[in-house]
Amino acid sequence: MRLQGKVILITGAASGIGRSSAILFASEGAKVIVNDLSEEKGEETAAEIRAAGGEAVYMKADVTDPASVSPMVDEILKQFGHIDVLFNNAGISGVGALHEIEPDMWDRVVNVNIRGVYVPSKYVLPHMMERKSGSIINMSSCIAEIGLGKRAVYAATKGAVLSLTKSMQVDYAPYNIRVNALLPGTILTPFVEKYLRESYDNPEEAYEGLKKRQLSGDLGRPEDVAKAALFLASDESKFMMGSPLYIDGGVTSGKNA
Ligand SMILES: NC(=O)c1ccc[n+]([C@@H]2O[C@H](COP(=O)([O-])OP(=O)(O)OC[C@H]3O[C@@H](n4cnc5c(N)ncnc54)[C@H](O)[C@@H]3O)[C@@H](O)[C@H]2O)c1
Repeated sequence: MRLQGKVILITGAASGIGRSSAILFASEGAKVIVNDLSEEKGEETAAEIRAAGGEAVYMKADVTDPASVSPMVDEILKQFGHIDVLFNNAGISGVGALHEIEPDMWDRVVNVNIRGVYVPSKYVLPHMMERKSGSIINMSSCIAEIGLGKRAVYAATKGAVLSLTKSMQVDYAPYNIRVNALLPGTILTPFVEKYLRESYDNPEEAYEGLKKRQLSGDLGRPEDVAKAALFLASDESKFMMGSPLYIDGGVTSGKNA
């Protein structure tokens, strides 16, 4: 029970890494707020956790919209009294070289992936500052550290999240709030399955190619990232501040010849 009694808000928790983290955190004793735009899948995730004996509620909010995030944070504080951990996980992809990206796609990806970290943090931080306690986990990606084809806007946003994490850490360290970033490699989630379907004529062949890119020889699974998130959410990581944590099958450190 590494998260016993902790109240944890996870954004984008109806699918993939967020969903897997919600299930794992609850199994470690956390009270989990499953936030997502998708009501059906969000309710499903929360119900699955409760059926397994854990504590979870679904709360709908668009992470880019202060008018929906602010009341959600108020509601969490009303129901649970405090928030120990904010996991800014919600994010979307955007495929294309820079000249191929339409301005509306650029704006959408920047909005969800960067503003979607800023807005929930803005409303949770004053509360954590008052308590002088908290852990914020921002979802970056190993793409913040390496170049990858046809991911211009996505890479730009994940680099921004890593920079944001480091500067946030400086501002909030005096309040005993830790801010760290997760840098996953390619993880087999609906997000990546969609990318494979939409970007390749032969998704199976592309999947085999992706596997070869990993030193591990396979893609990661949502649980692999959830376990790293669990470490950052728990007090076990109390000496980690403003750090990037790689969970990438070795992609950042080297590549296959
Ligand atoms: N899958 C990977 O290979 C990978 C690698 C590195 C980083 N990441 C990052 O991990 C995070 C989760 O990715 P995933 O693969 O689990 O994706 P996913 O698509 O399976 O899940 C993302 C969830 O976010 C929700 N969401 C999107 N926009 C939202 C908004 N405005 N407000 C609230 N919820 C919203 C979606 O409804 C969805 O349920 C993303 O930030 C992604 O960029 C993923």
